[in-house]
Amino acid sequence: MAAMTPGAMGEVLTGLCARAPVIPVLEIEDVAGARPLGEALVSGGLPVLEVTLRTAAALDAIAAIAALPGVTVGAGTLLAPDDVGAAKAAGAAFGVAPGATDRLLDAAETEGLPLLPGVATASEAMRLMERGYRLLKFFPAGPAGGTAMLSALAGPLPMLGFCPTGGIGPENAGEYLDLANVACVGGSWVAPRAMMAAEDWAGIRRLANAAAALR
Ligand code: 3PG
Repeated sequence: MAAMTPGAMGEVLTGLCARAPVIPVLEIEDVAGARPLGEALVSGGLPVLEVTLRTAAALDAIAAIAALPGVTVGAGTLLAPDDVGAAKAAGAAFGVAPGATDRLLDAAETEGLPLLPGVATASEAMRLMERGYRLLKFFPAGPAGGTAMLSALAGPLPMLGFCPTGGIGPENAGEYLDLANVACVGGSWVAPRAMMAAEDWAGIRRLANAAAALR
């Protein structure tokens, strides 16, 4: 894919957030479970998924999920420039990072992978804004100030939208989604480790259903 501007990335990512209020953050240990997991989440109403590059199976899991109909899969926990190329090669349609470095941003822009870079402060947000980014991951959302922090940022930085992630669950996701500067939220609660290990796909589908109904 050709190079991509941060503005164009923001349009792609805003479109993805409009498809579902919650982006499941997935840590997949066993590639064999990737396909049924993806099917459960998509049929539960969550068609946009993030597979974190934290397990040996992650890239193969992205490839397996990318082959499913009706799904858009991205790669999370992008930390280094090489992660961008690996994610793209596996079939990721977008990337997510807990923070941002110039080298990571350069790689995503050069390789044309829409990136959701992470911020936790106004200064970090302003640096990305200078570079043209308008949709940012707010991480770790709970420890970094939660909904109160996002409401406070909306005053001076009303042009920015956020996907908060980290410490969000069914009990507080609705409060985040009620904020005008929240495009969608991310979270691992829809695919708990124990349920994945138990291959409880019906249970995960029910969690996805409830999450999809949040907005
Ligand atoms: C992450 O990238 O680990 C996300 O922040 C997931 O956080 P959660 O497990 O609190 O949902």
